[in-house]
Amino acid sequence: MLSVLAISNYRSLRNLTVPLQRLNVITGPNGSGKSSLYRALRLLADTAQGHIVQGTRRKHPVNLRLGFAGEEFGYLIDMGLPKPDTTSMFSLDPEIKQEAIWHGSTLRSSTILVERHGGIVCVRREHNERSIVADSLAPFDSMMTDIADPRNAPEMLVLRESIRAWRFYDHFRTDAESPARLPQIGTRTLILANDGSDLAAAIQTINEIGDNQALDAAVSDAFPGSRVAVVSTSGRFHWLWNSMACCARWTLRSSRMGRYVICFGLPHS
Ligand SMILES: Nc1ncnc2c1ncn2[C@@H]1O[C@H](COP(=O)(O)OP(=O)(O)OP(=O)(O)O)[C@@H](O)[C@H]1O
Ligand SMILES: [Mg+2]
Repeated sequence: MLSVLAISNYRSLRNLTVPLQRLNVITGPNGSGKSSLYRALRLLADTAQGHIVQGTRRKHPVNLRLGFAGEEFGYLIDMGLPKPDTTSMFSLDPEIKQEAIWHGSTLRSSTILVERHGGIVCVRREHNERSIVADSLAPFDSMMTDIADPRNAPEMLVLRESIRAWRFYDHFRTDAESPARLPQIGTRTLILANDGSDLAAAIQTINEIGDNQALDAAVSDAFPGSRVAVVSTSGRFHWLWNSMACCARWTLRSSRMGRYVICFGLPHS
């Protein structure tokens, strides 16, 4: 679980440190920075997974810093504008200047485990000894994506896997071709994909080994009289929505699991 999120110089957020609980609700007037906070978290996850931060036109040099602390480890990334370079057209891409991984909740010199300065990455050992594990990282590559050294830097792998498990469910497409609507090969799905492409499999996983009554209650609470069902056609799962409110034609189908489900066509946006 994340205990702190820190953001500096991202959009309108100059210097922000937010203590986090298991559930956090951000409220505030329009333009107060709610979306910026969320986008900063997303940017942090993207950067640590190797997605390059998009360049933007800026009037002033940026010094964008993003970081978080969890139960075991913390991570910080510091980005700035590159030096002027006439040989590259990517002059607006930010450059990663520093990164650090530390143990515990607070970044202190004594708690740092791995640090990057420019293209050089060092692992700290006992008695403050340092060993260089990379010396020519590209300025647009995070050390989190480039270094996979379970012997010298195991904490990096732990942290990377934990960031990879973060999910952001705010960008589901709702059009007819949305991955969340299209039938997909169904495998047991404990964590829904970011684009919702395995939604039917995730629902069926809840139906079979999760709290299906709570799911039914949540759907019915949000859309009174509605239910979601999953059918399988040759191993491809798709979810169906039946709503008393918009029901015009019912069909009875046999699903692969040997159950009968009453279903109705997908709601299209
Ligand atoms: N690149 C940027 N640099 C500086 N400020 C920016 C940038 N992009 C957006 N802003 C400003 O940041 C402020 C916060 O925007 P944000 O979208 O986070 O607000 P919000 O609280 O989500 O608003 P709403 O309730 O309308 O969704 C706005 O005043 C916006 O103009
Ligand atoms: Mg917003």
